[in-house]
Amino acid sequence: MTIQETIRGRRSIRKYTTDPVPDEVLSEIMEAGLYAPSAVNYQPWYFVAIRSPNKLEELKHIMQVAADRTRPSLEKRFAAHPEVIRESLQFIAGLGNAPVCVLAFQEKPQDQYVKNQSNIHQSVAAAIQNMLLTAWEKGIGSCWMTAPVNEGLGDEIRNSFAPDKGELVAVFTLGYPAQTPQMPKRKENRFRIE
Ligand SMILES: Cc1cc2nc3c(=O)[nH]c(=O)nc-3n(C[C@H](O)[C@H](O)[C@H](O)COP(=O)(O)O)c2cc1C
Repeated sequence: MTIQETIRGRRSIRKYTTDPVPDEVLSEIMEAGLYAPSAVNYQPWYFVAIRSPNKLEELKHIMQVAADRTRPSLEKRFAAHPEVIRESLQFIAGLGNAPVCVLAFQEKPQDQYVKNQSNIHQSVAAAIQNMLLTAWEKGIGSCWMTAPVNEGLGDEIRNSFAPDKGELVAVFTLGYPAQTPQMPKRKENRFRIE
């Protein structure tokens, strides 16, 4: 798969098979994140890949609350598409049965070189995208999620899974796809070359 095929072919996957992600594949995916660019080369990230059934259940309890809290905004955004609302809420609460869910934190402590949170968030996002593309190249789907952060559950997730780390930035699922979604239409006229 070329890099362009990976970039264009990657889809957010919200339903997974029960096949586990092999250890060496998971390690390669996690490792790929570490090669992302970062503001002042601070490498401000820390990732926890959750895959033990007990821990996944614990996480899903929190995700159920995230789904409940997300409902009103989804109902507004996708008023004409009830099936999107239903599927999104199901996914957030149950993680699409993904065998792995990665929690993306910022490392701690911050230092003087980190002038603002935007630097940190952009750096962590770059690492996440590296991981998602590496996963896709290996036949593994993913879905990036900020719903639990947006709904005020970041601290609860951090306290449960990585109390010594900084803010939760996002979470993403990993697993073999059990669906083949259409690509959501890309907007036109989003760049120019002068
Ligand atoms: C920062 C960020 C946050 C996202 N949060 C969610 C989320 O909370 N729930 C969800 O189902 N998808 C989430 N997504 C996935 C987007 O919905 C998805 O990327 C978009 O619809 C485009 O589809 P594609 O990834 O298949 O190209 C998020 C993506 C990004 C980049």
